[in-house]
Amino acid sequence: MLDPHVVRRDFPIFDRKIHGRPLVYFDNAATTQKPRQVVEAIVEFYYKHYANIHRGLHTLSQEASEMYEEAHEVLAKFINAYSWDEVIFCNNTTDGLNIVAYAWGLKNLREGDEIVLTVMDHHSNMLPWRNVAKLTGAKIKYVDITDDGTLNYDDLEEKISERTRVVAFPGMSNVLGTINDVRRIARLAHSVGAIAVMDGAQSVPHTPTDIRMLEIDFLAFSGHKMLGPTGTGVLWGRKDLLEDMMPFKVGGDTIKDVTLEDVIWHDLPWRFEAGTPNIAGGIGLAEAAKYLMRIGMEDVRRHEMELVEYTLKRFKELGDDVEVYGPTDPRVRGGVIAFNIRGLNHHVVGRTLDLFGIAVRTGKHCAHPLHYRLGLKGTVRASYYIYNTREEIDYMVETLKQVIAMKNILSRQEEISEEICTGG
Ligand code: ALA
Repeated sequence: MLDPHVVRRDFPIFDRKIHGRPLVYFDNAATTQKPRQVVEAIVEFYYKHYANIHRGLHTLSQEASEMYEEAHEVLAKFINAYSWDEVIFCNNTTDGLNIVAYAWGLKNLREGDEIVLTVMDHHSNMLPWRNVAKLTGAKIKYVDITDDGTLNYDDLEEKISERTRVVAFPGMSNVLGTINDVRRIARLAHSVGAIAVMDGAQSVPHTPTDIRMLEIDFLAFSGHKMLGPTGTGVLWGRKDLLEDMMPFKVGGDTIKDVTLEDVIWHDLPWRFEAGTPNIAGGIGLAEAAKYLMRIGMEDVRRHEMELVEYTLKRFKELGDDVEVYGPTDPRVRGGVIAFNIRGLNHHVVGRTLDLFGIAVRTGKHCAHPLHYRLGLKGTVRASYYIYNTREEIDYMVETLKQVIAMKNILSRQEEISEEICTGG
């Protein structure tokens, strides 16, 4: 069983105090903290094995190349890919989804084709397809949500037609926490000959992911949201689709040979990893995946489900002062709780929690259309991971009680500018 109190010992950041209080880190949907094993793997690589990959016959280059290739193997295992060369290392989820949208989309989409997205998508999945739709003349359709924040599967069936070429959707909403029925969506996409593209930014770090069972065609996820370094991510794709795709970013390492007239592209995955890659990052990401596999992704999911159930139960003590968004059943909800305190601006709540050492994200969380759909200016979001405890949730709830008690004073605070969160 996962014991967060034991897990925490691997994370030096929890020795820190924020405003004199122990750090309660509830901003894991934005990015997670790093265990010493990941940092040490990167340091070890830089200190003992560092060289460029695929560009030298000398020992260090050979070692670095092997370590980087092995890292692909680890990530392939993490998602049960058929082979390591279907795993492309990229910068993050956004980068991976841009590669699919441009490299697959520009080659395969025509005027009149349709791309089905969802209103719960965050910008990483929405915007690349919107750009490619403009370039190709394809049309975008959005699947709605139900009142409790579940994907509306009736609407999905209605939106998918013989013209649909792509269905792109999140495995889990980064705001509502909704866990989508991925296989059902993929099967619907395939029933009309469309591809199923899964944005795994929120689901892959928190739930077991088996691309074979999910029956998807592409999957993108970020390393930094699963204990890995920033600037790392994975795009997995069905081999036949990857082989048929136009290389999107091209240059060093994407080729076997180049003449002034022609180019022979490299094998997978290198064809899609242009230039010197984030070698140390990839090695760190593999260490993060190993760390999670040692815990077991089933246990990760179980732990977060318990934390969500506990939060929803304790939030009842806040009565009408709190409004929580998303499904109420923890079995279909990931470790993300977006909420508002009635009568208080979300940024004011977030800043007050920070004064008590609690880190949450406030704003629209890179999902503006979803907030507009919900009629909200923003939300406060607490998002959990393997090192979070019930005691921390107790502390947040007790702090929120104080926030509510200070509502009259806090509501007079000038609203913190929305500009703070323009990135999201
Ligand atoms: N999409 C990331 C988040 O939810 C950045 O915070």
